[in-house]
Amino acid sequence: MRATTDLDGLGLDDGGQLLVDRALAALPPGGRLTVTGSHPALRVHLAAWCREHGHRLAADTETSAAGGNAGPVEIVKGTADEQRWRNAKRAGAAEGPPDKRADPRWGLAARGALVEAGGLPIGAEWTEREHVWADIAPRLYAAAAAGAWDPATAVNWTATLNVPNEIERAVVQLMTYLVENEQAALIIPARLLGQLHPHFREVMQLLATQAADEARHVEVFTRRGLLSGGPLGTSSAGGRASLQTLLAEPDFTTASFLLSVLGEGTFLDLLRFIHEHAPDKVTADVARLAVRDEARHVAFGVAHTAHLVATDKSYLGVLRQSVERRHSALLDTAGLNTEVFDSLVLLAAGSWEPAAISRGWRAVRDLQASMDEGRRRRLAYIGFPADEAAELSALHTRNFM
Ligand SMILES: [Fe+2]
Ligand SMILES: [Fe+2]
Repeated sequence: MRATTDLDGLGLDDGGQLLVDRALAALPPGGRLTVTGSHPALRVHLAAWCREHGHRLAADTETSAAGGNAGPVEIVKGTADEQRWRNAKRAGAAEGPPDKRADPRWGLAARGALVEAGGLPIGAEWTEREHVWADIAPRLYAAAAAGAWDPATAVNWTATLNVPNEIERAVVQLMTYLVENEQAALIIPARLLGQLHPHFREVMQLLATQAADEARHVEVFTRRGLLSGGPLGTSSAGGRASLQTLLAEPDFTTASFLLSVLGEGTFLDLLRFIHEHAPDKVTADVARLAVRDEARHVAFGVAHTAHLVATDKSYLGVLRQSVERRHSALLDTAGLNTEVFDSLVLLAAGSWEPAAISRGWRAVRDLQASMDEGRRRRLAYIGFPADEAAELSALHTRNFM
């Protein structure tokens, strides 16, 4: 087979090779391409380029002195290109759900790309779809991308506070507590993300938005905590110990389960409570903005855990063990910071009047009951029988997250 391409005045060092390559692509190995052109170094450059790319100049062209270094030059196509792509495989299908198993040799290739053989495999921990997937992930990612709010403008930071001193101290304590919880909630998806095979693109994107959500939560809670001039409140050893057990959770699903289903699920009620009893607009707004994001984090955790249990019923036992393990690791710690508990009571009371404190106390008891109810409902959705769901909910950390 023969073909011709004209480079006109173009040299190989300023784009001419694209035209030669394109013309060669249409030929089978052994096919001949005549290259014409007026560039003075065309012949010399083509000879070098052909050696590098596994083609050769036709014998008569090589020996011909006519035409000096300019064209025409005849190239015989080699087999290197075909060989290079012979063992190439597609990294799954670009459209539709990801493959069941992501090949570490696909590395960072886009889903659906033709992957040249060779190269180092990616050191991803999570390569099985069912271990990271939920069908709702693409929709949750889209909702997260569309729902990202700007901390600078979503809250009116210059509104006058007008909060009595002692109530303000309770708010500051709650914000201090929220920040340390948000920091754990940021680090965990970021860590899972770093060990996830990028073939599971939607989960990767969702975890990235989740970490970004938590970054905003850290910001707005810090900002509200400092709004009245500081200092921040206290951080208890028990609270931090509880969060650190989450950071140490090695498995994707148990980490997602403990953090998002049980912890963030419990936080939905907590943030709604803070929103409802907020003594000022800024506190109400930061709680409202955060709860919107948390609902997505919880939705993914629940959907993913239920997805895995649906494919492997025995995984309920693994989840159960993760709750029990965490519970026994925390047996000797106090759990929730008493200052946090007291602050919740005072926030709902609104004053130190005994009748008000009684109301606040009842409100916090109701809060704990609705947290428990929510956990049991989510556990039942995942597949736990009602009695086991109640048992596991009761074993959940007293620190809420
Ligand atoms: Fe958060
Ligand atoms: Fe979250």
